[in-house]
Amino acid sequence: MTGQIFDTPERYGLVSRLLHWGMALLFAWQFAGMVVKLSLGRHPVTAFMVGTHVSIGTLLFTLVLLRLVWALFNIRRRPGHSRGWLGWAARLGHGCLYALMLIVPALALLRHYGSGRPFEPFGIRLMEASTRVESLMAPANLAHRPLAWTLLALIAGHVIMVLIHHFVWRDGFWARMGWCRRAEAGQR
Ligand code: HEM
Ligand code: HEM
Repeated sequence: MTGQIFDTPERYGLVSRLLHWGMALLFAWQFAGMVVKLSLGRHPVTAFMVGTHVSIGTLLFTLVLLRLVWALFNIRRRPGHSRGWLGWAARLGHGCLYALMLIVPALALLRHYGSGRPFEPFGIRLMEASTRVESLMAPANLAHRPLAWTLLALIAGHVIMVLIHHFVWRDGFWARMGWCRRAEAGQR
């Protein structure tokens, strides 16, 4: 787990990698909970996993804000994209991932605010009960679910592209976000 804090043109730095892999784990938990809910219905495992949905979703929203700031701060030194249409497709893909990572929890938080229920992620009361405002709830009622599943589809596309880079083109992309210096060296 070595490496420098800031990104370099060769490799994402420690902070970017911690944010990427930490958030990937949290997203895996978030989606796994919903898949369990859809397959098992009312069940103690569902209650356990979905019981953390609001708290983990709120944490993810906070982390994506930090990640955006960090990405902008490092924009000139982080690894670049390949030339041509593939590079533009990667830029577009990463842009859409960021947009959905932001919009999906933001809409849900707005709905929670509009519901007038108290807000207490991780048991910490951040907001008392207030009046219900239907118009603040409408956007998430319409879009939280479909946009969240769209985000999962995009993540699947992202992972498939990473696997193609790694196993078919063997161009060392994996090492840019990886932890293992030996793997990185092996790619060169
Ligand atoms: C990035 C973070 C989040 C992801 C990936 C996510 C994902 C999802 C998914 C996939 C569903 C649909 C489940 C189904 O089809 O039955 C869902 C539903 C739900 N989520 Fe989230 N969520 C996130 C953040 C949040 C937050 C922050 C809140 C609350 C403040 C929240 C509250 C809800 C609620 C109440 C539902 C059930 C109603 C509905 O389908 O809209 N989520 N979420
Ligand atoms: C097993 C799962 C995953 C693998 C193997 C993986 C792998 C990678 C790799 C190797 C890179 C560097 C690519 C490059 O240099 O251009 C990268 C970048 C990136 N990944 Fe993933 N990733 C995974 C999950 C995710 C998830 C769940 C998300 C978001 C929801 C995500 C979002 C991003 C973004 C936005 C970038 C661009 C760099 C940044 O701004 O952080 N990845 N990923």
